Amino acid sequence: MAYTVPKLTDYSSAALEKNAADCIAACEAETAEVRSDADLKAFRDRWMARKNGILTQINDVWLKGAPKEAKRETGQTVNQLKVRIAELVEAAHVSGRDSDSVTERVDLSLPGVRRPLGAEHPVIKTMHEIVGVFQKLGYSVAEGPVVETDYYNFEALNFPPNHPARDTQDTLFIARQQSKPQRDRLLLRTHTSPVQIRTMEKMPPPIRIVIPGTVHRNDPPDASHSPMFHQIEGLAVDTNITFGDLKGTLDHAMKALFGSDVKTHFRPSFFPFTEPSAELYVTCFICGGRGQRGPDAPCRPCKQTGWIEVLGCGMVDPNVFEFVKDNGYDPKKVSGFAFGMGVDRLALLKYGVDDLQLFFQGDVRFLEQFG
Ligand code: PHE
Repeated sequence: MAYTVPKLTDYSSAALEKNAADCIAACEAETAEVRSDADLKAFRDRWMARKNGILTQINDVWLKGAPKEAKRETGQTVNQLKVRIAELVEAAHVSGRDSDSVTERVDLSLPGVRRPLGAEHPVIKTMHEIVGVFQKLGYSVAEGPVVETDYYNFEALNFPPNHPARDTQDTLFIARQQSKPQRDRLLLRTHTSPVQIRTMEKMPPPIRIVIPGTVHRNDPPDASHSPMFHQIEGLAVDTNITFGDLKGTLDHAMKALFGSDVKTHFRPSFFPFTEPSAELYVTCFICGGRGQRGPDAPCRPCKQTGWIEVLGCGMVDPNVFEFVKDNGYDPKKVSGFAFGMGVDRLALLKYGVDDLQLFFQGDVRFLEQFG
């Protein structure tokens, strides 16, 4: 039976003591019944609530009903009772959860929990491999900002304002820049090439650098496009650098990356900041350059041509050197080559993955295959 506050008729010392003891016993018995956090809250409210809690009721019923001569003793009894009940309520806890029984259940002989080790993401792994190949050739690594000005992303790379070549790079512009002069307006860099200029501003020639980083273009995501992707830029400037140096360097790098059987092939192309410009093709590492994977199996990655385009490159345009002439880059004295490759696409080809989006979805079941 749940405890209810009795009305007192007998206010003798013995009766007060007995009623107080009954109340304490009832409270103790209830603490053992607390099985959940909700029980605990209900129990606390039942005994302690200012409005109509058991202690409040005792205060009201016992004290107010006490005859004049018993008021003092009743008051003392009720006060002691309140202290004791408050202690019991304070000490109450959800039973079956106490720490002793939990320690008893820990089996120290069980093996420990193995923490899964992280691994490099396939794109980052490919990026490190490519950078490593160039570091062995004596290149250093440079970096630059992802939020870039129009000047570095376009103007100093020989894309004049309003030149149609800008349309080839679907640019994501930062909002509310119209009040600034065009060259100061901010955008998300569309390639790592702006870091060519930034580095030449800081370091006089000769330089040999690779620039890994993320770039953005306004392309909707699909199996071969992503609004964010990775590039590695390369730049070498010195006296007497020739197209032969460009070809030899890139041929070596492709063989280091894809195996010594790979053949390279340059086709003319156009970039505003290189002249002449070229696209580099390597023999397809899926079909080995045959265009067929078997008698009736056309090779898809190379569209049956046997060649895969891997990067854009060329000799640094003298107009680009004009922008950094004061730092020792006199176009009449120095020459250089530059190249830029899409890391994600190379990672796709290298690992035979057919959907670029898999690289960006963060699904551990996909990623752990590269661990
Ligand atoms: N920046 C060019 C692009 O993103 C690639 C490139 C880099 C071409 C350097 C030539 C030289 O398409």
